[in-house]
Amino acid sequence: NLPKRVTLKEVGPRDGLQNEKKFVTTEQKVEWINQLSESGLSHIEVSSFVHPKWIPALSDAEQVFQQIHRHSGVTYSALIPNIKGAERALQVGVDEFAVFMSASETHNRKNINKSIEDTYSVLKEVANEGKSARKNVRGYVSTVFGCPYDGHVSLEEVKKICDKLFSIGVYEISLGDTIGVANPQQVEEVIKEVKKEFGVDRFALHFHDTRGMALANTLVGLQLGVKIFDGSIGGLGGCPYAKGASGNVASEDLLFMLHEMGIETGVDAKSFLKAATFIEDVLQKTLPSHQLKIAEGMS
Ligand code: HMG
Ligand code: MG
Repeated sequence: NLPKRVTLKEVGPRDGLQNEKKFVTTEQKVEWINQLSESGLSHIEVSSFVHPKWIPALSDAEQVFQQIHRHSGVTYSALIPNIKGAERALQVGVDEFAVFMSASETHNRKNINKSIEDTYSVLKEVANEGKSARKNVRGYVSTVFGCPYDGHVSLEEVKKICDKLFSIGVYEISLGDTIGVANPQQVEEVIKEVKKEFGVDRFALHFHDTRGMALANTLVGLQLGVKIFDGSIGGLGGCPYAKGASGNVASEDLLFMLHEMGIETGVDAKSFLKAATFIEDVLQKTLPSHQLKIAEGMS
C-alpha cells in the first residue's frame, strides 16, 4: 500500500547550486526557475539568505526572488540561518522559510558556526519572525544517517532535535542524508522511530546519492508512508561544509520511478527534463541524472 500521490520538493536552485564553482548568473537562475515553475512543481527552494561569503554561489538571493515569475500554485522557499537572513527574506517576499541544523555537533559547527545547543534559540527567533509574517516554516535536520566528521549519529539525538524543531513551530521536517551514507535498513529504523513519536505525515526525506542508495532509500520511505521527497534536478547538489557530499537524488529519476509505479506527482516529466538540459548547458558539464543521459542519447 504505497501512497497514491507524492510531493516532490525541488531543491536544485538552492542545494544544487550552492556547491557549484561556476557562478550561474542571476539571469540564468531566473530563466531556469521560471522553467521549473512551468513543470507542475508545487514547491521550489529558490535560494539561501545565508552569509554570501559562506555560499558565494547564492549571493544574489534577493535579485533572484525579485526577478522570478511566480506561479500561484507554487511555493517559493529559501534557507534562512538567522534573523538577519529572515529580514533579508521578508524584504523580497519569500513564501516559506526553511531553518536548518545538524544532528551531529561537528557538522553543525562547521556549517553554521555554532553548537547544537546554541542553535535552537536562533532558529526559534527565525521561526517567530516567519510566523508573524504568516509564513510557513520548514525544518531540516542534516547528517541524520551519518556525519563526515563525527561518524555515527544517535537516533535519540535526531528525535530530540525533531522535538525541539516542532516545538518552535516548524510544520514539517526534512530528514537529510547529507553525505549519502544511508542504507535502506537504516532508513527503515529511523522512519519507524520518528513515525512512532511524531507521525509520518510531518516528515520529508532528503537523500543525497553519493553511493547510489537514494532510490532504494526512497522506496523504503514510500513503503512506510512518507509522501514528501526532496530532489534536485539533474542530480546537482552537495554541502560545501560536509566533506564528501555530492548531489541529491536527481528529481527526474525520482519522478520516473514514481510515475512508473503509478504514483502521481503533478509534475510533467517532459518539461522538467527541458529545465534539466538547460542547467546542464549552463554549467557545461555532464550531470549525474540517468533520465538526462537517456534523453540526450535519443536526441
Ligand atoms: P557567523 O560568521 O557566525 O555570523 O556565520 P555572525 O552572526 O557572527 O555574523 C558575522 C557577520 O556576518 C555580521 O556582519 C553579520 O551581519 C553577517 P558584520 O557585522 O561583521 O559586518 N551576517 C549575515 N550577512 C548576510 N546574511 C546573513 C548573515 N548572517 C550574519 N544571513 C552563518 C553564521 C549562519 C551566517 C554562516 O555560518 C552561514 O551563512 N552558514 C550557511 C552555510 C550553508 O548555507 N550551508 C549549506 C546549507 S545546509 C545544507 O546544504 C544541508 C541541507 O541540504 C540538508 C542536507 O542535505 O542534510 C539543508
Ligand atoms: Mg542537502
